[in-house]
Formats: sequence, structure tokens, C-alpha cells
Amino acid sequence: MTKDKNDVYILAIESSCDETAAAVVKNGRYVLSNVISSQIALHTLYGGVVPEIASRKHIENIDGVIDKALEDAGVTFDDIDAIGVTYGPGLVGALLVGLAEAKALAYALNKPLVGVHHIEGHICANYIQNVEFEPPYVALVVSGGHSHLLHVKDYGEYEILGRTRDDAAGEAYDKVARAIGMGYPGGPKIDKAAKNGNPHAVEFPRVFLEDDSYDFSFSGLKSAVLNHINKEKMMGHEINADDIAASFQKSVVEVLVGKTIKAAKEKGVSRVAMAGGVASNSALRDEMSAQCEKNGFFLNVPDPILCTDNAAMIGSAAYYEYVKGVRDGLDLNANPNLKLGER
Ligand code: KG4
Ligand code: ZN
Repeated sequence: MTKDKNDVYILAIESSCDETAAAVVKNGRYVLSNVISSQIALHTLYGGVVPEIASRKHIENIDGVIDKALEDAGVTFDDIDAIGVTYGPGLVGALLVGLAEAKALAYALNKPLVGVHHIEGHICANYIQNVEFEPPYVALVVSGGHSHLLHVKDYGEYEILGRTRDDAAGEAYDKVARAIGMGYPGGPKIDKAAKNGNPHAVEFPRVFLEDDSYDFSFSGLKSAVLNHINKEKMMGHEINADDIAASFQKSVVEVLVGKTIKAAKEKGVSRVAMAGGVASNSALRDEMSAQCEKNGFFLNVPDPILCTDNAAMIGSAAYYEYVKGVRDGLDLNANPNLKLGER
């Protein structure tokens, strides 16, 4: 690996939820390695992420994941210019493992430390996917913990247009999947089941809220699905899980796409981006792509592996902070409720 003298190599660490991840990213755009150790199989046994188990597993895995990230990239610590790390939002015990590791490395190696907002990382996955993709654009960020509609004016400059008032989109997927007996994580399972179901089988509500609002609300939809299941069961009917999955998904997708297109028109941008675990949903990708084409917007969507949690996206976000001169001290603390745009 020959490194140009102007190249910036970031070693990035992500441990905010149930993936222990490390990556080496060059100049915010080129992924030299992207190692993800997923704990999903373990948490599936409990029907969701168990925070205490997540923290313990991060501790067990993190050193090996970082070693592998350096090895895959063909670099050593000497080649690294800065350590990027997610410091919020997320599970506090999980965040602390990655953050303590990053601080220890920054101190021992005498390298700068750059704290990254997890959602900012998700957004930056778009810069890795497409090295020419640039602000301004409207971004739909839909993950297990967050649903945001943003106007990204410049690197690191966000106007929050709307956010969820209750459940995040991924949370709604996970809860509905549990109700129809599909287990955790629900998103990919509903995605698959919906392909065999009729999206018009049950007309679930489309919750657009007030005309001028870009906020989301998914808890009413989740209740509508639960009520439907209970009603069917009380009447002695078999429930068709595939039909429910397809109908639920149609309602979610219509609202997410409808609000994104409206925001893109209102903000006068020519580009739209998606990010977060739910952005790997095939129906959402298809519908967003069709509507963007119809309305003349360029759509950028990261590959599914870059939509769900990973450290490459954190390496990209850390790069844009690093070149702006952002440096964090060793007193940087985990912030489980960190707001976007806040430091
Ligand atoms: O971004 P992410 O990996 O973690 C958080 O930051 O939360 O998102 C995880 C969420 C889970 O709720 C999962 O069910 C959902 O993303 N998800 C999906 C799909 N793949 C993952 N939701 C719908 N369709 C998918 N294919
Ligand atoms: Zn995430």
C-alpha cells in the first residue's frame, strides 16, 4: 500500500448498537477495509438487542476487529492520520467500549481523535458509495433508532426538516415482525415476506400528519397492524403474514417516499439520498427510485452493507470533520442522546 503524502487515512470505530466494526478509509471516500462483527445471531435469541450483552461482546471483539481492519487495508498504525469514533447516539455501554478503545489508541499513538455522530456516519455512506456525490441534497435517514428527513446544505451542515414523533421506521418494522411471528431483526424478514404478499390485502393508514409537516409517526400504523391481527384471531381466521407484511410495508414506503419527494421539491435540490438500515429495504429503494425518476431527481443509495451499521461510514464522516480542523480531547464522553449538528 503506497500512501500519497496528501492522503488522509482514518481508522474508524463503530460500536453504538449490536455491530462491532472498524474500517480504514482514505480521504473520506475510499474504503481500504470494512470489518463488521455482527452480534445479531446472539440477540435474536432474546427477540431484540440486550444492551448488557452488546457491551460485553464489543469488549471481546473490538481488538480483533481493529487488527483485521488494518490487515485488510494493508496498513499499520503508522499510516493512520486520525482515529474516528462514534460517540453518540446509541446504547451508552456499547458506545463507551468503542470510545475507550479509540481514546486509548489516540493517546498511545499520539494521533488526533475525532468523535462522530452516528447518523452523520449513515449519511456519509453516500460519499463512499458514489465518490462524486456532493451536497446539497435532501436525505432520508431511516434506521432502527432514528427517522430523519434532512436538507444537507454542505458537508456537516444539516437542516432537520422532520423526524419521527414516536417509533423509528426500523423500530416499526421490528415490532410488526415480532407481532406476526418473524423474530428479530424484523426489517429484512418483512422485506422478504412482503415479496410473496399482496400489498392491497389490508388498507392500513398512511400517516402523513399535518400538511406542512415533514415529521413521521409510525406508532399508529403499528397499532393498526396489531388490532388487525387480534381481530382476525378473534374471528378464528388464519392470519396471512405475507399479506400483512406487504400491506404494512406499502404504508411505510408511501409515506417515506411521499415526504422525501415533497421536501426535495420544496428545497429546490436536484439530488436525493437515503441512509440507515431501512434504506436497504427493497420496496423502499424501488419506489424511491421510481418517484425520483418521475420527478427528475438524481437518487443516491448506498449498497445494503453500507446502509446497516458499519465503520466505513464513520471513517467518511470523521474525514470531513478532520479536514475542518475538528479534534476531540481525551475527555470526550459517550452521549446516548446526541443531537445531529451538536458537538
Ligand atoms: O442503521 P441500522 O443498522 O442500526 C441503527 O442505527 O439503528 O438499522 C437497523 C434497522 C433495524 O430496525 C432493521 O430491522 C432495519 O434497520 N432493517 C431493515 C432492512 N434491513 C435492516 N428494514 C427494512 N428492510 C430491510 N431490508
Ligand atoms: Zn445505525
